[in-house]
Amino acid sequence: MTRRILTVALAAAMSLVASAQKPGQPSWLSDAVVYQIYPSSFQDSDGNGIGDLPGIASRLEYIKSVGVTAIWMNPIFVSGWTDGGYDVIDFYKVDPRFGTNTDLVNLVEKAHSLGIKVILDLVAGHSSDQSEWFKQSQEAANLRYSDYYIWPSFKPEMPASDGPQDYYALMNSSAGIISKFVKSDAPRGPYYIKNFFDTQPALNFGFANPDPEHPWEQAVDAPGPMAMRRELKNIMQFWMDKGVDGFRVDMAASLVKNDFDKSATIKLWKEDLAKWFHENYPENLLIAEWFNPSQSIAADFNIDFFCHDGTYNYSTLFFYNRRGRGAGNGPVYPYFDLEGKGELKTWYDLYTFQYEAVKGKGYVSMPSGNHDFNRLCDGARTSTDQLKVAMTFFLTMPGVPFMYYGDEIGLKHIAGVPAVEGGGGRCGTRIPMLWDSSENAGFSTAATEKLYLPQDPDPSRRTVESELADPNSLLNYVKRLLELRKEFKALGADADWKLVSSLEQPYPMIYQRGEGESRCLVVINPSAKQVSAAIPTEGVQPKVIGGTGKKQSYKAGKTEDKIIAAGCSATIYKF
Ligand code: NOJ
Repeated sequence: MTRRILTVALAAAMSLVASAQKPGQPSWLSDAVVYQIYPSSFQDSDGNGIGDLPGIASRLEYIKSVGVTAIWMNPIFVSGWTDGGYDVIDFYKVDPRFGTNTDLVNLVEKAHSLGIKVILDLVAGHSSDQSEWFKQSQEAANLRYSDYYIWPSFKPEMPASDGPQDYYALMNSSAGIISKFVKSDAPRGPYYIKNFFDTQPALNFGFANPDPEHPWEQAVDAPGPMAMRRELKNIMQFWMDKGVDGFRVDMAASLVKNDFDKSATIKLWKEDLAKWFHENYPENLLIAEWFNPSQSIAADFNIDFFCHDGTYNYSTLFFYNRRGRGAGNGPVYPYFDLEGKGELKTWYDLYTFQYEAVKGKGYVSMPSGNHDFNRLCDGARTSTDQLKVAMTFFLTMPGVPFMYYGDEIGLKHIAGVPAVEGGGGRCGTRIPMLWDSSENAGFSTAATEKLYLPQDPDPSRRTVESELADPNSLLNYVKRLLELRKEFKALGADADWKLVSSLEQPYPMIYQRGEGESRCLVVINPSAKQVSAAIPTEGVQPKVIGGTGKKQSYKAGKTEDKIIAAGCSATIYKF
């Protein structure tokens, strides 16, 4: 009898473990809500039209009031500014446009006093071509940084195309590496290998299977790549020891070259870089920009993204053109659109693969946006109601939620703004924050034409001030969602997720969070039409605990439950 009770108790505990957080992950991570800040566009404190660290520090109380517990800032290091800060000249120094290292320490201290963690962007795969390392590496001499970069002595024949050349493919094919050869007139050699733009020479972490015919392809454990690893750890240690709480690692999958199945890059992180990091900083966080959690979590990152790029993406949910592998050319009807012509299966298959692959080991995070793709508030999706529906989705899915600055007030994507600092079409998503009704919406006291990028010119644009004043605003809605997420663990990072509606009838999308006693059900209908659905009976009538407040009904039946959802609505039920 006692043994039976024990067995039952053990089984219950095991089922809890199955959906619980990864053992040994930072203790604060399960409840974290991350807010991404593009530092040039958030808050200017010195009137030069560009955001800075003291500016960010001055807005931390606001950030906390939204319900955020961690900020991630895009790169803040001395940069050549040919790629929005991702071309780092000095990895140990804050760029003067943002302030000083002391300003960063002050920001961290203030953030910590408010219970907010600070995550930096670690550009692990490349530097600026203006960095001292690269300058020295260009010399025809055997110096300290000589092997920090890769210097091919000739350009091999381009092999026949081995697949469509999107961002992911470029990082993952031999054609990809050759297309990254940049002609050079440096004494060191006729080519170097870049990671992204020509101004971003790739750092040398070695090649998966060095080709003896290609003497520049060093093994991952050759002296050059080993020195590179030590430098990367040193950079991490430098900032960790200043109180920073972790890194989002840019292009984390790109380190080992010609590593098509990523096994060498996974090994490099798992057995060395991430291992060292977690051993030394167990309460700190490593987020991958890898776009493939099944690999990055195996590499011992805590979180990876599922968003716009790579094979695994949510492009069918939000974009008017499909991105990533197999994108095709034609227009796409995004699922989150009033027309209600979208489908869920593409996203569902990709998402569930990743979700199942890393459950209990790490998190798949679907950010509301980021600095590389169009904002949520874009195209035909700009009304507060539509944005509330989308935010309900983002903030009730498993994994750690990431909100891109401004998404909480429905900051609009502004197409056609000037392309600055390598941002190209991405600049429309990097425009300055809108705080209030004062000059430049409180972002800066500079002359309007001096702003980093133009702001949304719409006179009825939403600002933090106007949103706070309106009880039905998106901002107040987002705050309530984050409170609910905190109150009901079933809506949190670790609780189970299961789609209960049919993929054949995609509107509404209905998913269950949690298990047993503490289950929640989320009903999402982005289409303008009222829709209904029947799901296998839950056996109990649930209670509405949140949502857009539009007409809805839930009728529990003997064999099935009937749900009605008004056009453009979201409802959260608790059983
Ligand atoms: C990904 C970053 O998000 C993007 O902004 C940048 O241009 C590339 N990596 C290169 O660092």
